[in-house]
Amino acid sequence: MSNNNSLNQRDPRSLRSHRWFGPDDLRSFGHRSRLKGTGLSDRDYLGKPVIAILNTWSDLNTCHSHLRQRAEEIKRGVWQSGGFPVEVPVLSLGEMLMKPTTMLYRNLLAMETEEVLRCHPVDGAVLMGGCDKTTPALLMGAISMNIPAIYFPAGAMLKARWGKETLGSGSDAWKFWAERCAGNLCDEAWCEIENSIARSAGVCMTMGTASTMMSITEALGMCLPGASSIPAVISEHSRLATDTGRRIVDMVWEDLKPSDVVTQDAMHNAIVTDMAIGGSTNALVHLLAIARRAGLTLSMSDFDSYSRNTPLVANLRPVGKYLMEDFYNAGGLKALLWQIRDLLKLDTLTVNGQSIGNNIEGSEVFDDDVIRSVDNAIADSSGTFVLHGNLAPNGCVIKPAAAEKKFLNHRGPAVVFEDYADLKARINDDDLDVTADSVIVLKSAGPLGAPGFPEWGMLPIPNKLLRAGVRDMVRISDARMSGTSYGTCVLHVSPESHVGGPLAFVQTGDMIELDVEGRRIHLDVSDEELANRRANWKQPEPPYTRGYGQLFAQHVTQAHEGCDFDFLEKNDKVPDPKIF
Ligand code: FES
Repeated sequence: MSNNNSLNQRDPRSLRSHRWFGPDDLRSFGHRSRLKGTGLSDRDYLGKPVIAILNTWSDLNTCHSHLRQRAEEIKRGVWQSGGFPVEVPVLSLGEMLMKPTTMLYRNLLAMETEEVLRCHPVDGAVLMGGCDKTTPALLMGAISMNIPAIYFPAGAMLKARWGKETLGSGSDAWKFWAERCAGNLCDEAWCEIENSIARSAGVCMTMGTASTMMSITEALGMCLPGASSIPAVISEHSRLATDTGRRIVDMVWEDLKPSDVVTQDAMHNAIVTDMAIGGSTNALVHLLAIARRAGLTLSMSDFDSYSRNTPLVANLRPVGKYLMEDFYNAGGLKALLWQIRDLLKLDTLTVNGQSIGNNIEGSEVFDDDVIRSVDNAIADSSGTFVLHGNLAPNGCVIKPAAAEKKFLNHRGPAVVFEDYADLKARINDDDLDVTADSVIVLKSAGPLGAPGFPEWGMLPIPNKLLRAGVRDMVRISDARMSGTSYGTCVLHVSPESHVGGPLAFVQTGDMIELDVEGRRIHLDVSDEELANRRANWKQPEPPYTRGYGQLFAQHVTQAHEGCDFDFLEKNDKVPDPKIF
């Protein structure tokens, strides 16, 4: 399948960059002479597609430490195909070290992506991302800019070992931290885990947010087939880089743009994939934002319909047993998609110019415990459920496969924390009136309240309950949680407490009912009493009163809307700059 717009191909005057370099005028003389000042000659760039390699490498983004080398390998492919590669550093959102949360900056990277592509003589872009927010941010910006673009996934770390244990990033950190808090793990063992759990360059090797978003992006059709499952540090990942560089040059001549690829059918494939892999709850927020950028129709409730009809076939942590390296060895995403092909829109176009059906045709599963068949699924309905009720009028989410089954239908008294500082100060107080049946509630953890919508949602279980053997409880917040997290955590409560959502009015001792199968969450307090509490409520002060934080606070949308900036989510054409 090829794009009809390719009729103009190989005419250098049709290139966007021709406006910078082609004319015989003083301005273009300046553009050309300055490139020559770097040692380039006409043969290097004139009449060739200029490919911007947007690199989210940084010394502070440990997941992307290999991306400098990969950028060189991408350049090799661009040169081979007759393009002119330029590496452009963009904001690197390293999940581990940025505070309060990378989510505060997802829209900043999206905006930077759009503007960097807009203001430069660029004909096509390679989007180098992986660590959680980098992928949606790059996609959002590229979709808005809508010039040919291809995503290059950073790939996952190799799996880690500690003694006889196989360690998965995030998930096993939470698990062994709970054991340490319960007094079951000595300092020496804890240090050994710290030394071994991050084994190589690459993103978290569980099916956390990074691997979820890489997989979803492949299902959207925005990277080469098979790309999302290749581990970060094996030779195939280098070859993928060069293949990606080669392909983007052809995409420019074919004029194959994100709007040709990210269609309603592609979004369908992305959500089915998210459910089948047991993807991170964060995928909802990012896909809502991506859909709005692309002018597609998508709501929170749509995800729940998909969850009811899609079997969970990936046996990967945190909901299953294996890690991303096992997934790759078992056949990777192509093999998984072939298992669920009856649920996909197989004619959907992808960046290699082929349909997704062609790309996955006959892909073999090499380990059917890692990638299950539909008949032997981990669960018949899967992924992320969307709940509604008087506590979350605009919805909230839960990942039931990662929760203890006994809590999926639960009624218990709330133990309320007004914000994270309050939670840190009191959660381990031995006098705290809390039992395993309590429902821990955290407020002021949403997009505006925290601010930035951090991953605090896997709220800690009090140490005294950990010591008593408790490992899960019902927890509710307007925060997100890491894709590597697990437990009965109700997240993304919308509207958030900071703007006066009902969560703001919950008090310790109120009874809360959770009915996951019925998709219902209910605060057992009368409407009259809630109205009374609302009348006496004072909105907390805004956390930021200047700079980017203030811009964020003024324009970010709520969780059920994708948390983009209201002025960026429009699907208007981005104007090219005037060149005088
Ligand atoms: Fe980068 Fe998990 S910290 S992907």
